[in-house]
Amino acid sequence: MQERQPEPGGLTGQRKSEHVRICLEEPVNGIGITTGLERYRFVHQALPDIDYRDIDLATAWLGKPARTPLLISSMTGGSTHTASINRRLAVVAEARGWAMGVGSVRAAVENPDVADTFQMRDLAPTIPLFANLGAVQLNMGMGPDECRRAVELVRADGLILHLNALQEVFQPEGDLNFAGLLRRIEEVCRALEVPVGVKEVGWGIAADTAKQLADVGVAFIDVAGAGGTSWSQVEKMRLPDPVRRQAAEAFADWGIPTAESVRQVRAALPDHMVVASGGLRTGVDAAKAIALGANAAGFGRSLLAAAADSETAVDDVLARVETELRIAMFGIGARTIEQLRTTERLV
Ligand SMILES: Cc1cc2nc3c(=O)[nH]c(=O)nc-3n(C[C@H](O)[C@H](O)[C@H](O)COP(=O)(O)O)c2cc1C
Repeated sequence: MQERQPEPGGLTGQRKSEHVRICLEEPVNGIGITTGLERYRFVHQALPDIDYRDIDLATAWLGKPARTPLLISSMTGGSTHTASINRRLAVVAEARGWAMGVGSVRAAVENPDVADTFQMRDLAPTIPLFANLGAVQLNMGMGPDECRRAVELVRADGLILHLNALQEVFQPEGDLNFAGLLRRIEEVCRALEVPVGVKEVGWGIAADTAKQLADVGVAFIDVAGAGGTSWSQVEKMRLPDPVRRQAAEAFADWGIPTAESVRQVRAALPDHMVVASGGLRTGVDAAKAIALGANAAGFGRSLLAAAADSETAVDDVLARVETELRIAMFGIGARTIEQLRTTERLV
């Protein structure tokens, strides 16, 4: 999967293709840090008192029914190659009832020629589908109008704004002004007709930040914690300057591990929608994250290789994750996602 031709999405599209290539080919996991989920264990229930076939993964995303509590994390779009990744993910997400976020729609807001690389609604008519923009763009000339355009373009159920301060620092072309963003996020929450969520990109969200975000109207928080993809490691691969590469390496173990971030955000916001993501690989990871208090669990890079391959490969991964989640629920006697979320069998 080498892509070297000019991309229709311009510089942003080229960067997206480069990110996908690096995430597929290079070691980009955090080093010396894990999600923390491995520190938790379910207390096995030898007498589950349920029929495995009655296990029900159904849930709701902010009132919209969904067949699973599982999410394909915002990844990509904006170029020819990434469009086919999005299409494979969208088709299988619709078939299996996963929610999906497309990657940052900035490229399409700036250049309508690449809009179709994000337009997955026809392939995924019923699932919760989310547009995505970098929150820092709200300091770079974008505002509620551009956010609304991003939502309309994707025909999305909501908008996810991502917080990626450390990634921007390590991007040669990064946007560095994060000052005053909370007020700008508030403006967007007030102006948009759809829910606005906020996510990190792999360094987690702490309790105080989650509380501030909820107070200005953010409808859901996706912790995108540490222990999986490290964006300082990804950007390191694109840095020509050896000194900055070394600086990026110093952040290989940065961030709030996913399990810790979910616990913090749930404690700060007992009734808010919380998504657990960052380094999730299996349905057992998802089960643990939900048992820690999350309403849903998101998968990013662990789906990328399959998405770069074929719909069948994506379907295999998603089916496996669902099966693992169901078996974990059986193993503790939880029939519904609500029973899993409130279980006391996670120690
Ligand atoms: C190739 C790739 C591109 C990504 N692009 C975006 C993006 O445009 N917007 C965003 O919010 N997150 C983006 N992410 C971050 C993921 O949504 C996720 O938060 C992060 O990778 C951590 O999860 P993981 O360990 O499961 O990969 C991207 C991730 C990957 C692997």
